Amino acid sequence: MTTPRKLHIKSYGCQMNVYDAQRMVDTLAPEGFVETANAEDADLVILNTCHIREKASEKVYSELGRLRVAKEEAAQNGREMRIAVAGCVAQAEGQEIIRRAPAVDVVVGPQSYHHLPQLLKRAKEQGRALETEFPVEDKFGFLPDPKPAAIRARGISSFVTVQEGCDKFCTFCVVPYTRGAEVSRPVARIIDDVMRLADNGVREITLIGQNVNAYHGDGPDGKTWPLGKLLHRLAEIPGIVRLRYSTSHPRDVDDSLISAHRDLAELMPFVHLPVQSGSDRILAAMNRKHTADDYRRIIDRFRDVRQDIAFSSDFIVGFPGETEEEFAATLALVMQIGYAGAYSFKYSPRPGTPAADMQETVSAAEMDERLVRLQELIDAQQSAFNKAMIGNTVDVLFERAARNPGQIVGRTAYLQPAHVFASPDIIGQVLPVRIDSLERYSLLGELATPTPRPASPHPHMTTGA
Ligand code: SAH
Ligand code: SF4
Ligand code: F3S
Repeated sequence: MTTPRKLHIKSYGCQMNVYDAQRMVDTLAPEGFVETANAEDADLVILNTCHIREKASEKVYSELGRLRVAKEEAAQNGREMRIAVAGCVAQAEGQEIIRRAPAVDVVVGPQSYHHLPQLLKRAKEQGRALETEFPVEDKFGFLPDPKPAAIRARGISSFVTVQEGCDKFCTFCVVPYTRGAEVSRPVARIIDDVMRLADNGVREITLIGQNVNAYHGDGPDGKTWPLGKLLHRLAEIPGIVRLRYSTSHPRDVDDSLISAHRDLAELMPFVHLPVQSGSDRILAAMNRKHTADDYRRIIDRFRDVRQDIAFSSDFIVGFPGETEEEFAATLALVMQIGYAGAYSFKYSPRPGTPAADMQETVSAAEMDERLVRLQELIDAQQSAFNKAMIGNTVDVLFERAARNPGQIVGRTAYLQPAHVFASPDIIGQVLPVRIDSLERYSLLGELATPTPRPASPHPHMTTGA
């Protein structure tokens, strides 16, 4: 065993990056690395980067500027600090990073981080910065099978990757270029991961992928399994009480997914289904491959099978040429659907994407103004949704002790944090909570006396009884 070394890893961007960061920690643990909260006293700092918008991308270089100073200070104290850049900026810019930021020791793409130990060793031997070759083919075959040490349980809730990459090529988006083509992991590997996590105390699994409902993995029966079928199988695993999945594309919502929501009490009635715009002309220019009405119909299909279902979404304002009328169509769609929450962004032109070459523009002032209007509407919907919980009794999966002494915090089906005063024994259990109040985004309540549950598939539903 080598002497312990400190690793600091900072992740930007999506949940896939959060998952990858955990995998990097697990990959480096056998090398003697332990995580530290401070970059300054780390022996290795990894920036796990995001390329999705210009702001996210540029953050990396300002962070690298700060790290260069920390690295110099460490050297003055006779200590070596090494710096690695991982994630989607690494994939998109590669060598360019080493040119712009000579303090960087290693650049590693999102499909190559299992090579980090060797890469760090080689860079040291050769005394120069190195980058991986970024293999894009055969991603999951290329990764070593996730060993028990590679996917470690971290609490009650865990991400599991089922799919990576995207073939949709929305005209604004870098993901198909940074993460490559869609690849699905085989069903058996996912079942193994989930069983291992369940054995180690995990109760909730969120299946993740850039386009998770495009999942089409090899099943043990020799057939290709869609996401809905995978969810049905995972719901059978003892110990798993909640299932989620993210992020979905409206085009890939199929009957198997709808039936999973109809049949599985374990599958949470909360779906992130980004629509981006409510205007058909903009949706077509974005290459989203669906209209606003298609989206409305998809939402209705979910609602038909699960009355308590709620949705969140992503929106882009100011896509090239977006008129006031087209933006108004987005507001109209939001009003019609009624979201539990949503993310909204100003359009950011990304190098290499088709939209970056589009000539029409929307002025910065208009973009700002549209973003404010959209966010006000979404915030109002979100707070109405949260307020509607007050006075109700809802199921909460308890995850950990809260910051407030004596309180335990968990999440509702809709991912709202909920706090109660209770014994830590309840961690890992789903219990009914009577919600008394709302403080900012957090619900406060009391454990309700558990009542015997009916044998209905959706015991917490009040409709249709
Ligand atoms: N796979 C998901 C989203 C991936 S990126 C999907 O299909 O919806 C997350 C969000 O970032 C997107 O939904 C979009 O709203 C936003 N986004 C992506 N590229 C962007 C760009 N160039 N400018 C502004 N927002 C962008
Ligand atoms: Fe990007 Fe579109 Fe793929 Fe989502 S579906 S990752 S927005 S290209
Ligand atoms: Fe960002 Fe890459 Fe995720 S660009 S959003 S980290 S897939």
